[in-house]
Amino acid sequence: SIPVPNVQEMVKKNPLQVPKRYIRNQEEMEKVNYMPQLSSEIPAIDLTLLSNGNVEELHKLDIACKEWGFFQIVNHGVQKELMQRMRDVADEFFKLPVEEKEKYAMPSNDIQGYGHAYVVSEDQTLDWSDSLILIIYPNRYRKLQFWPNSPQGFKDIIEVYSSEVKRVGEELISSLSVIMGLEKHALLGQHKELIQCLRSNYYPPCKTPEKVLGLSPHSDTSTITILMQDDDVIGLEIRHKGNWVPVTPISDALVVNVGDIIEIWSNGKYKSVEHRVVTNKDKRRTSHASFLVPRDDVEVESFAHMIDAQNPKMYQKVVYGDYLRQSMKRKMEGKTHTDVAK
Ligand code: SIN
Ligand code: FE2
Repeated sequence: SIPVPNVQEMVKKNPLQVPKRYIRNQEEMEKVNYMPQLSSEIPAIDLTLLSNGNVEELHKLDIACKEWGFFQIVNHGVQKELMQRMRDVADEFFKLPVEEKEKYAMPSNDIQGYGHAYVVSEDQTLDWSDSLILIIYPNRYRKLQFWPNSPQGFKDIIEVYSSEVKRVGEELISSLSVIMGLEKHALLGQHKELIQCLRSNYYPPCKTPEKVLGLSPHSDTSTITILMQDDDVIGLEIRHKGNWVPVTPISDALVVNVGDIIEIWSNGKYKSVEHRVVTNKDKRRTSHASFLVPRDDVEVESFAHMIDAQNPKMYQKVVYGDYLRQSMKRKMEGKTHTDVAK
């Protein structure tokens, strides 16, 4: 990737200016498809019930994955104090002087570190955000040089928070196995090893939010993504029947979305839905996305039992690592979906 300006510094120096490289085409930003009234229909699912095999809750998960691709989970067992500690310490990190943060700067040939991944062209419209990206699991993939030494305790909180997300993720993937008609541990087994990557995002305010996006529209190349967002600043929007619907935070809930890999395995039954982030005029927003993905060498294709006369095979076999690289390329060309595997 190529180096891009630090957005937070840019806004600090000149809060009114929006450089051309960040300005979206107006068509993309039109408000006609904005449907906040649908936000309350995004399913909320009780993870404890789900993990206990509650039939109604499993049914809710099936509907959520088919119709929304997104849902919020409550009763997930992650302590709210831990969630708040993670938010607070990350916030302190983002408040550090830029020179301090740049000690962890993402090198151009890496996707870990502080900065912005996947910027490959000078023409690319840039996102109004800065991120810290770390691979957490398996431990041997960690690059500790990117784990911030300050603020004190950040590394420990990342570790503890991520281990909780891992537990939640494994429970969710087990339930996904069940609703796909498989044995509980089948999907986890498909990963060879579950890889977990954390992306902590900082979206500075923008005085003209209608001109920029915090994050370009995309679908996730993950199996699932587990997101902790702020309780008070809205920013995430998802595609639903052609509309953009904001994901209004439920206090202490986690947001989960189906990624491309579940869409492929389920032969399109479950949807990896496009989403984006808009910025706020006055407030900064932060979020913490944990991506759960298979190992690079895993071959992914539609499961045979999801294919029948009404549902012909949609996705050919692809090695996950190749899929990732191809999706990256597609994204740069403005395509955003699982076309790669078709
Ligand atoms: C995403 O990771 O795509 C969304 C992150 C956010 O809501 O800030
Ligand atoms: Fe995403």
